[in-house]
Amino acid sequence: MSQKNDQDLERFARELQEQIMNQLRQQYSPQVIERWQNPHNFYRLENPDGYAKVTGSCGDTMEMFLKIQNDRIIESSFFTDGCGTTIACGSMATELVEGKTFTEALALVSTEEILKKLGGLPEPDVHCAQLAAETMRRALADYLYQKKHAWKKIYRKIEEK
Ligand code: FES
Repeated sequence: MSQKNDQDLERFARELQEQIMNQLRQQYSPQVIERWQNPHNFYRLENPDGYAKVTGSCGDTMEMFLKIQNDRIIESSFFTDGCGTTIACGSMATELVEGKTFTEALALVSTEEILKKLGGLPEPDVHCAQLAAETMRRALADYLYQKKHAWKKIYRKIEEK
């Protein structure tokens, strides 16, 4: 392929990407786009103290992982096979609980709080925030359960990467 064709192709790709970004900016807040592009805490944490995996109404799945010491969340992460909005919501859910006590986190994490911190979402995407909130709340509940039944942790099944 000639150099001119290469340059044309590159310019076309750049313009297309810019067009897509402009469309996204009309629908989504900067907070959502930032996390979409650079999600925080997007990894599977080994041997978590709290864990949950939930499949949402759309069929996407989210996992939440918590490391907790003296009832304080010292590390929190998530993983999902969902879309960009789901990733942004998962990221925000983990950011919300960082450094919080178990009780503070439980009181704080909700669909409304995730939506508020993300600057809102279009109506068809609200279920992504619901999925993130529900998964985080179940991971917190799992921590409480594990604490009471510590021996069961050995048998808990967490999917391999
Ligand atoms: S589209 Fe399925 S959770 Fe976002």
